[in-house]
Amino acid sequence: MARYPAEPWKVKMVEPIHQLTQAERQQAIVEAGYNTCLLASTDVYIDLFTDSGTNAMSDRQWSAMMLGDEAYAGSSSFSRLEATVREYYGYSEIIPTHQGRAAENILNRILVKPGHQCPGNMYFPSTRIHQELNGGTFQDVIIDIAHDPLADHPFKGNFDCDKLEKLIADVGAAQIPYVALGAPVNMAGGQPVSMSNIDEVRTITRRHGILLILDAARAVENAWFIQQREPGWANTSIAAILRAMCDLTDGATMSAKKDSFANIGGWLGLRDPHLAVQARSLVVVYEGLHTYGGMAGRDMEAVAQGIVESVADESIRARVEQVGYLGELLNEAGVPIVQPIGGHCVCLDAAAFLPHLNREQLPAQALAAALYVEGGVRGVERGTVSAGRDPQTGLNRMPTLELVRLAIPRRVYTRSHLDVVAESILDLWKRRDSISGLKFVSEPPYLRFFQARFAPLS
Ligand code: F0G
Repeated sequence: MARYPAEPWKVKMVEPIHQLTQAERQQAIVEAGYNTCLLASTDVYIDLFTDSGTNAMSDRQWSAMMLGDEAYAGSSSFSRLEATVREYYGYSEIIPTHQGRAAENILNRILVKPGHQCPGNMYFPSTRIHQELNGGTFQDVIIDIAHDPLADHPFKGNFDCDKLEKLIADVGAAQIPYVALGAPVNMAGGQPVSMSNIDEVRTITRRHGILLILDAARAVENAWFIQQREPGWANTSIAAILRAMCDLTDGATMSAKKDSFANIGGWLGLRDPHLAVQARSLVVVYEGLHTYGGMAGRDMEAVAQGIVESVADESIRARVEQVGYLGELLNEAGVPIVQPIGGHCVCLDAAAFLPHLNREQLPAQALAAALYVEGGVRGVERGTVSAGRDPQTGLNRMPTLELVRLAIPRRVYTRSHLDVVAESILDLWKRRDSISGLKFVSEPPYLRFFQARFAPLS
């Protein structure tokens, strides 16, 4: 019995992959300093490191790329992108950027000043680092249950509005440049936010004159969960739900490498023309002219076409239910994963998987390395290493969640690939007691999970 619908596409071009031997994989992980991020992709069999920029583009996207207008100024490809973002996301002012963090850079340079407090529903590393580099401090105002990996909740990404109100009362609205809305919440395992919660946050922020900014990277997935889980939305199209979410916000940063199926690209969407003037003047400093923002014309064409494809109900359904398929295989076997299963990833609860390791022994980093050696499957640490150090104290932050994220690229792998992933995890689960901890060997100052190196403790 099929447990998720057949993909609404067929394969036209293939990319060969192969599996190294276990001995070769062991050698590769040692050379990569036990950091899956430092592995060569040719040494990886099934790559679930990220769903960012790793998606398969459609024949329509590839053909749209041939129409790319590479003019430095006034590219018609930008006009198409701008019109498409306006139509589907609804923001009037569109500033193109080469990817999501570039939009975050520009937004935070405009809005965040030293001493500002930046509330959000759980941190995301690239968002928080831009807040901090501009002198702000991130404040987590997500509901408590989001920090419990095994607890079930249909909208586990929701804001705790009492926490938000309390923060505003404590520091004053003038100290809060914007509220960051992640929907869904990547670091919580792709957990969605309900429309009613966004509406409540909108009411609070409007009352206090604070901007509400959406991280729209996977907002289409959030729209899917609203349609499936929130009363009153079952008969509304994904496109209309996406638009309703955006309509509650003042702007958005977008990594088009996720929902929009593109390999690169992003944008900053705003409504306030005065903010947009500032953003356009910064984009030419950091990205490129305001009609390409670091993207080639062909990339803008691919993003525009990708947006249209992304909101098709059958497309997003196949995407999220494929992720659910892998999660259910692990649930059935009793492997501890974040509940409920998220939109873009399945997250192994490394603290529960390796209870013999304490947090200083970096269980999620160790588990990600062990899974690579086991089956050539690459995931990424989302725990103590990703959380980094507190910029004030220099001490390791200890997040509640200690996860290995297995993110599924869109339209790339088949059900049999996911079966192989599940089998590798089950084999590892059986010998979990044999997995030992890791220690840092070297550590870069920013976003350390990308480049840090480790060695086994034993
Ligand atoms: N916001 C979210 C929620 C993200 O997941 C990412 C990237 C960004 C912003 C930054 O966008 O990569 O285009 O600069 N997430 C990737 C991931 C890296 O693997 O989750 P970017």
